[in-house]
Amino acid sequence: TKNWGLSGKTVLITAGPTREKIDPIRFLTNHSTGKMGYAIAEEAVRMGAKVILVSGPVSLAPPKGAELIEVESAEEMYRAALEYFAKADALIGTAAVADYRPKYIQKDKMKKKEGEQALELERTKDILFELGKRKEAHQVIVGFAAETTEIEKHAIGKLARKNADLIIANDVKQKGAGFGVDTNIVTIYKKDGSKLELPLMAKTEVARRILSEVSLLLKRDDSL
Ligand code: C5P
Repeated sequence: TKNWGLSGKTVLITAGPTREKIDPIRFLTNHSTGKMGYAIAEEAVRMGAKVILVSGPVSLAPPKGAELIEVESAEEMYRAALEYFAKADALIGTAAVADYRPKYIQKDKMKKKEGEQALELERTKDILFELGKRKEAHQVIVGFAAETTEIEKHAIGKLARKNADLIIANDVKQKGAGFGVDTNIVTIYKKDGSKLELPLMAKTEVARRILSEVSLLLKRDDSL
């Protein structure tokens, strides 16, 4: 079924994990599978949007009708997102971007040796934060907060810090929520201070709920 709630709109989505190289054969990453972001991409296509999906390495089929930009590191994801953000009406950041990367990438494979080995890390760019600084009045930014403690506090903090319109928070410790599963349990925190607590539902349904909020925010802007 077609729902044209996003027709004429460009939706930029980041998805999946990133890989931060240590040496030619090793990297740091996380448990993100990209399912939430890919579900949002598919649903946004169904709602008539032009969809740009900037994705870290995942094993999912590319969503039909979306433009897929494949990246590996947080830095590559940042550059791709920055490039497309200027033309986007909405940015939905579902990616589990690495917060740290090895400070030095070893040119050759690190050989094992006796004793301990430290790995020096440096911060990556926070993509949502950087794009939040460049956000224009007509643009909508949606972030995710995957937390294990004090979910509400972190979600509200992220709304302000990242200049986001919506933060989709989930307790990744709950069964049926977070990484790798086809369902999620989320609360949508809005800039106006209200929140929408959703029960356990398929990620495709969560995607629909998020995009209908986005479509409302974009419509409100259109009518100004
Ligand atoms: O600050 P925290 O990582 O908890 O925020 C999560 C949100 O910020 C997610 O939407 C995630 O995609 C985004 N993020 C990002 N770049 C980073 C870290 C997080 O875009 N380096």
